[in-house]
Amino acid sequence: MSAVSQRTWGGRFAESPAEIVRQFTESVSFDWRLYRQDIAGSIAHAKGLAKVGIITKAEARKIERGLRAIQKRIEAGQFQWDAALEDVHMNIEAALGSVGQKLHTARSRNDQVTTDLRLWCRETGRETVVAIRELMRALVELGEKNVAVVIPGYTHLQRAQPVLLAHHLLAYVEMLARDAQRFGAGLAVQCPLGSGAIAGGTLRLDRLFVARQLGFCEITRNSMDAVGDRDYVLDYLYAAAVTGLHLSRLAEDLILWSTAEFGFIRIGDAYTTGSSLMPQKKNPDVCELVRGKTGRLYGNLVAVFTMLKGLPLTYNRDMQEDKEPLFDSADTLLASLRVMADMLRHVQVNKSRCEAAASDPMLLATDLVDFLVKKGMPFRQAHHAVGALVAESEKTGTPLPQLAGRKYGAAAARVFDVWRALAARLAVGAPSPKYVAAQLARWRKLLG
Ligand code: ARG
Repeated sequence: MSAVSQRTWGGRFAESPAEIVRQFTESVSFDWRLYRQDIAGSIAHAKGLAKVGIITKAEARKIERGLRAIQKRIEAGQFQWDAALEDVHMNIEAALGSVGQKLHTARSRNDQVTTDLRLWCRETGRETVVAIRELMRALVELGEKNVAVVIPGYTHLQRAQPVLLAHHLLAYVEMLARDAQRFGAGLAVQCPLGSGAIAGGTLRLDRLFVARQLGFCEITRNSMDAVGDRDYVLDYLYAAAVTGLHLSRLAEDLILWSTAEFGFIRIGDAYTTGSSLMPQKKNPDVCELVRGKTGRLYGNLVAVFTMLKGLPLTYNRDMQEDKEPLFDSADTLLASLRVMADMLRHVQVNKSRCEAAASDPMLLATDLVDFLVKKGMPFRQAHHAVGALVAESEKTGTPLPQLAGRKYGAAAARVFDVWRALAARLAVGAPSPKYVAAQLARWRKLLG
């Protein structure tokens, strides 16, 4: 056979692609990562062909054995990927040799690639959820280690009201729980195999049988939609972008907390880096990179969105551009989740710095308003009265509790006991020590 006809699609061509075209169009340099899914898909397809009598059971078994041997070679690093064979699909089929001659019956790379990619997203989605849960666990652990630490809560990055540090950390646990759900929701449940290139084929297949082999519970209902659909890629990328956003905010909080100005935490030396010039520096580079990498996660989502928009139905080669952003987002996100979980286990909380910040009586000005409201003063009037007291405190330097005591009696001054104030926050979702402890216990149990 000539080099041209050896290509799986070489029959109608008189010339091989130009070298520059070969380099430009190949995808095996990155889509080789789909090899496990490709092999699983091919085994299921071969069994399906045997089930309806297109190939014999013996042929299917031979194909399966061949594919498993190829997988072993790939995993042992002994497989030679050949860019001349374009992509992972044709590399594996070619490696099967003569056994593989019948494998591609009633199949196209168009339904093959979207099957592989759905499986990849499903598996990687699960792996991502595992990494998210590990980070949630690390946050819960840090909260548990520091249950008795109060910090100021901030709005506009101005001190607002006291909260437990654990409450702040649990806010991230809630975000990450939503993230984990988002990854679960985007998992493709429909198997596209049998859709062929665009319009199925004339050979009768048992599509549901094949789908079940691969763990799909349904089959796609429209062959054109099936081969042109990359929504599940967008779902993964969107879920990754939102998770990145949450990680970035967490990173930002940790960066602020580790400054000399805040001094709430110390990040373990092994999780920071130094400066080549300033010997005293200890920089939170891990957090900064996590924050910075979020840009890629957004970029990858936008790249695939943009690549897909305006494509006429159905498959277009543009869609090969879905993989690198997808792989990059998965790699970036998994690495960020893992390093954050590790780093949190090496964070020391400086309790006295936290306490000093949280003992600012201004944080409880709102509690004094509530105190006056309970005494029967209309809220707006109480807000105004306390505002005036705050102004006086700032002007005269007299602490707010003292002014409150003078004006409204000793009970008003007692409002400024931070632990009493926290315990009084009885609403579900508010940081009373009792509620926060219950939340820590709840998450501990859910996360195992
Ligand atoms: N490498 C291709 C991709 O990732 C596989 C599908 C190619 N199909 C085709 N008809 N050229 O999109």
